Amino acid sequence: MTAETHQIRLEDPGDAPAIDNLNDAAFGPGRFARTAYRLREGVPHDPAISFVATWNGRLVGSVRLTPMEIGDAPALLLGPLAVHPDVANRGIGRALVRTSVERAAELGHRLVLLVGDPPYYAPVGFAPVTPGRITLPGPVDPRRILAAELTGDAGSITGEARRLRAQ
Ligand SMILES: CC(C)(COP(=O)(O)OP(=O)(O)OC[C@H]1O[C@@H](n2cnc3c(N)ncnc32)[C@H](O)[C@@H]1OP(=O)(O)O)[C@@H](O)C(=O)NCCC(=O)NCCS
Repeated sequence: MTAETHQIRLEDPGDAPAIDNLNDAAFGPGRFARTAYRLREGVPHDPAISFVATWNGRLVGSVRLTPMEIGDAPALLLGPLAVHPDVANRGIGRALVRTSVERAAELGHRLVLLVGDPPYYAPVGFAPVTPGRITLPGPVDPRRILAAELTGDAGSITGEARRLRAQ
C-alpha cells in the first residue's frame, strides 16, 4: 500500500483552467484589484519556475512566478499561491514555494518578492524587506513585503517594483 501524498511538477499549459478555478476559489473576485496583480498584469508567468501540486492525479495547488523589475534589476514576483482546502496543512503550500524558489536560484535569478504573511513564508527563506527599500505600485502593508535573496549581491537590489516592460 502506498501512503497518500502529493506530487509536485512543473505547470503544463493544460493546467491553466484548473489553476484559474483554484485561484478564483482561494482569492475571490477581488484578486484582480490587488497590488501584486498590478505587477504581473499582462505579463506571462515563467513556466520554467511555476509549479503545481497534484493529489491522486487531481490538481490541488499552484504557485506562479512572474518576471518583473526592481529599480533596474530583473527580479521575480511570487504569486498567486493557492492550495485547495481539502488538502490544507499538509505542507503542500510551502513545498510549492520551496520548489519554485530553488529552481529560480538554479536558473540564476537573484531575488524573489512577494506580498504575504511573514510567519508563513519565513521557513521557506523569505524575510521582510527593510522599510522603504522596495516600493510597490499600490497600497500594501509594508510589513508584508517579503523577499528571498538568492545571490550574495541581491541585497543591492532596491527601488520601485515595476511590471516588466513589453519587449
Ligand atoms: C495559504 C495557503 C497557500 C497555505 O497552504 P497549505 O498547503 O495549507 O500550507 P502548508 O501546509 O504549507 O502550511 C501550513 C502551515 O501554515 C499555516 N498557515 C496557513 N495559512 C497561513 C497564513 N495566511 N499565515 C500564516 N500561517 C498560515 C498553517 O497554520 C500551518 O501552520 P503549522 O505549520 O504551524 O501547522 C492556503 O491556505 C491557501 O491557498 N489560502 C488561500 C490563498 C492564500 O492566502 N494564498 C497566500 C497568499 S499570500
